Amino acid sequence: MGNRVLLIGGSGFIGRHLLEACLQRGYEVTLLNRGRRATRYGVGVTHIVGDRRRLDRAVLAGLQSGWDAVIDTCAYSAEDMSIGRCIPTRRYLLLSSCSVYGSVTGSQLTSERSPVDSSGPARGKLDCERLASGLPAEVLVVRLGLVTGPGDPSGRLTYWVERCLRGESVLVPAEPDQPVQMIDVRDVAAFLAVAATSSLCGTVNVAGAVATFEETLRLVSDATRTAPSLRWVAGPVVLRHGVRPWREVPLWLPAGHPYRPHMRTNAGRARAAGLTLRPLAATVEDVTQWHRSDRTWHPEWLPTGRERAVLAEAG
Ligand SMILES: NC(=O)c1ccc[n+]([C@@H]2O[C@H](COP(=O)([O-])OP(=O)(O)OC[C@H]3O[C@@H](n4cnc5c(N)ncnc54)[C@H](OP(=O)(O)O)[C@@H]3O)[C@@H](O)[C@H]2O)c1
Repeated sequence: MGNRVLLIGGSGFIGRHLLEACLQRGYEVTLLNRGRRATRYGVGVTHIVGDRRRLDRAVLAGLQSGWDAVIDTCAYSAEDMSIGRCIPTRRYLLLSSCSVYGSVTGSQLTSERSPVDSSGPARGKLDCERLASGLPAEVLVVRLGLVTGPGDPSGRLTYWVERCLRGESVLVPAEPDQPVQMIDVRDVAAFLAVAATSSLCGTVNVAGAVATFEETLRLVSDATRTAPSLRWVAGPVVLRHGVRPWREVPLWLPAGHPYRPHMRTNAGRARAAGLTLRPLAATVEDVTQWHRSDRTWHPEWLPTGRERAVLAEAG
């Protein structure tokens, strides 16, 4: 098999790491994106500037040359998939999400055969999966769990890094044994780069190992070289203050929260196909180092004044 790979995207969080992993494997890489991010690509990378939803003739012509693999990192709704039929390729890898799964009960893990929720927030992803599976190519749908690592713009892990670095008492509304499942973006990228030229087809979950909230915070404390005063306040008490799980306090998912299955994913098929996971400690260490150079405070994070008020009332 040849090594001509087209990345749809390639300049975002996962895409930049994916580009690097593809180049390391010696692939000849072309990117298609709208050119909205200030990114310099290395020598030998071809960049086609275009919007997948509004393909003009010049862009279409650039896509016609034929590819060994397309890795699609930015399909969110059915209209995004019309591009699929315009690109002759042997393999088509679609980045989907574990948020397509419906709720699971008890200690169950979601496998590729678990029921999906076609009326949930990820229904657009399910439309993309359905349309991808009809393409005249070998198709691999990659359902990603929560991805983090250096450059992660989501603020999910860096919230806890920043809170530890700031000191004072840190409000923790999660149960200590709440599952937290994150995968390092570099492990995702390495897996995708190999899968681009492998024969793996169908659907595969790609997710990290499951840790607990308590373990995760211990790693953050180690990486930040801090000894934070963690104040574990019962979730229902914090909810009564109107604090929003996941958005204002990242990674916190009270029982019954629709994202909770996201943290209980079985990635056995990917592991058997070669997915390797670095220790979570290494990821937390690298994210902390990266965050230290930036210290962005996300506007959605719980403001310090409200956090103090909840803690004061919790006693
Ligand atoms: N991050 C996670 O935890 C996570 C979890 C599950 C699934 N995923 C999936 O992983 C994929 C990648 O996520 P990400 O966080 O890396 O995304 P991202 O940072 O938003 O990057 C999106 C990329 O796609 C390009 N793009 C967006 N719209 C485009 C359009 N209309 N035409 C051409 N190019 C377009 C962007 O470049 P331009 O803006 O310059 O066009 C950029 O290169 C997504 O499909 C996401 O749903 C991510």
